[in-house]
Amino acid sequence: MLPLHDDSVERLTREIQLQQRHHGSALPSYFYQSPKVYRSELENLLLRSWIYAAHISELATAGDYQLLELGADSIILVRAANDQIHALVNSCRHRGARVCEAQQGNRKTFVCPYHGWVYDLDGSLRAARDMSMRPDFDASQLGLKTLSVCVFQGLIFVNADPECEPFAPALEALETTLGAYDLENAQIAHQQTYTVEANWKLCLENYLECYHCATSHRDYARMHTLKDLPAASKPVVDAMLARCESVTGVAGIGKEHYQVYNDASAFGACVSHQRYGLYEGYVTGSEDGQPVAPLMGHMRGYDGGAGDFQMGPVSFMLNYPDHCVLYRFLPLALDRTAMQVVWFVAGDAREGTDYSRDKLIWLWHNTTGEDEYIISRNSAGVHSLLFEPGPLQPEFESMLMAFHDWYLANLTGNPTE
Ligand code: FES
Ligand SMILES: [Fe+2]
Repeated sequence: MLPLHDDSVERLTREIQLQQRHHGSALPSYFYQSPKVYRSELENLLLRSWIYAAHISELATAGDYQLLELGADSIILVRAANDQIHALVNSCRHRGARVCEAQQGNRKTFVCPYHGWVYDLDGSLRAARDMSMRPDFDASQLGLKTLSVCVFQGLIFVNADPECEPFAPALEALETTLGAYDLENAQIAHQQTYTVEANWKLCLENYLECYHCATSHRDYARMHTLKDLPAASKPVVDAMLARCESVTGVAGIGKEHYQVYNDASAFGACVSHQRYGLYEGYVTGSEDGQPVAPLMGHMRGYDGGAGDFQMGPVSFMLNYPDHCVLYRFLPLALDRTAMQVVWFVAGDAREGTDYSRDKLIWLWHNTTGEDEYIISRNSAGVHSLLFEPGPLQPEFESMLMAFHDWYLANLTGNPTE
């Protein structure tokens, strides 16, 4: 075992090579504990990837903004006067103070609280007190730094890499399958941040496999076939796929698509969809498996299926005919992760009349609580000095392997095989 206190670049390279020779094995403690690894993840993976930031309804009118915490960075998402959505780095171009403190609101400008520099909603520097006495002062070069923005079907994604490829071409593959829910005109019924005291990869890895579903999620497991191996659930899934188009009225809703991690069309532009089946008697993800909200978007019926989506390396959706649930995992620190869960319903559904918020969130609020528990136990276990990683299950945990392959190949910023 290599000494834990060695956090050099050489160690990072050695650990990656070692792990690449152990393809199909869980990651060792080092990757969950090293500050150098964490820094490399932010720089070379997360700040170069497409990440879900907000829903269009959260920035409904000009001046509406909200903050996104992305590792060490704070990002301001804002709708400018011309209706364009901008993503601005919340660090003043003078000496770096956070320009915006409130989590959300409506502004005409952003004024840095430290020395009062004033920024427009598109990030450009409008005024900098008494700086004109510097002959080299060029306000046009001192706007807040910006991230690339992609708005797809009402979902706002951002990417901090100035060289990133656009996300829209990759997302086009979901035009029909995600379009069925008309998220652009949907509303957020509820959203919640679950802060887990664990490394972000433990949260993501947990989401990427359903090996734990049968043992950790009793309620989820009695409804969703994903808790079984594909061969076992095939009859239920095939029957659902045979009827999904006629029942939902959406041509192509069962179309599978898989371009994630190393198979993504561009770096950090993962896109996938599969429609999987619910067991007989269940038509949505609720306590009794019965509808909890009006049908969404273009959906015309309950086919006993749910759309499982990935958009970027850390953002996912599980969409039932009557509601959609979005998951996003972002690190707040080496050992702290924000699991964001967003519940969507049809835009015209009214709480209290058409749906009950408590009934709507019952399954995934409880399931997320169960995940928080098992992830924190996982974190305690991998921090043990005596922990030795074991083999992954080839089918249930194949997505973890795909993530690990991408992760290890790109962690240093110099891609390897
Ligand atoms: S740090 Fe913002 S004005 Fe000085
Ligand atoms: Fe889980």
